Amino acid sequence: MTTNSPGLFIAFEGGDGAGKSTQAACLAEALETRGLTVLRTREPGGTPIGEKLRSLVLDHGHGHIDAHTEALIFAASRAAMPAR
Ligand SMILES: Nc1ncnc2c1ncn2[C@@H]1O[C@H](COP(=O)(O)OP(=O)(O)O)[C@@H](O)[C@H]1O
Ligand SMILES: [Mg+2]
Repeated sequence: MTTNSPGLFIAFEGGDGAGKSTQAACLAEALETRGLTVLRTREPGGTPIGEKLRSLVLDHGHGHIDAHTEALIFAASRAAMPAR
């Protein structure tokens, strides 16, 4: 990749506990070691509102979240724009 490259979007997919965060951290470290700039984010999350929505999804104190509700929370996180 050249320094004027637009970059790559790399996504880690998998169920809860599959190891996505671990592998993303390893890859980010490996790329940064090679001098590349890495922006690591997650879904839901990545913005202040997205992180609050993530907490909601991960808070099992509410009991089971039905699939429709969870899908809408993910959609809301995608819709949330970063603070300017
Ligand atoms: N290759 C691996 N072997 C054993 N345990 C792992 C491995 N990768 C991750 N873990 C452990 O599994 C758990 C879930 O990993 P994590 O990366 O948080 O998953 P995810 O982000 O997909 O939910 C963590 O406790 C992590 O330390
Ligand atoms: Mg994770």
